[in-house]
Amino acid sequence: MENASKYTDLFLQALEAAYGAYAPYSHFRVGAALLLTDGTVVTGVNVENRSYGLTNCAERTAVFRAVAMGKSSFKALALATPDADYPVGPCGACRQVISEFMDKNAPVIFGSSRDNLILKTVEELYPFDSLHELQTKS
Ligand code: THU
Repeated sequence: MENASKYTDLFLQALEAAYGAYAPYSHFRVGAALLLTDGTVVTGVNVENRSYGLTNCAERTAVFRAVAMGKSSFKALALATPDADYPVGPCGACRQVISEFMDKNAPVIFGSSRDNLILKTVEELYPFDSLHELQTKS
């Protein structure tokens, strides 16, 4: 199992992004940083709406931004939640979206500060995923 500290720089990019979140309703800012296989990083933030259900999470913002830029090969995802005092993992909807594009062994790093990072693989966050099961069949 990889060490989360290897991804501190990526996490810090997610943390910096979090300060630009649009979260006037929850006041819960989230930043994401997606490391692409070409080495570039695409960030995302949560974007809330007065019609609460239309909120888009930071992770999905990052994934959708990257795909819109023509990039859909991802190595790692970091998630920063500075308004929590404990690590917050991706929501269920984001786990599904992440699993569409990321390898089951790809690392997802999350925390509220650089001192409490958690690293889980996509498969640990989203086990028994039909897409990954299909991919392992020849
Ligand atoms: N949020 C994210 O951006 N990502 C997550 O994985 C958890 C939740 C956002 C949605 C909403 O704007 C705020 O955090 C509170 O739920």
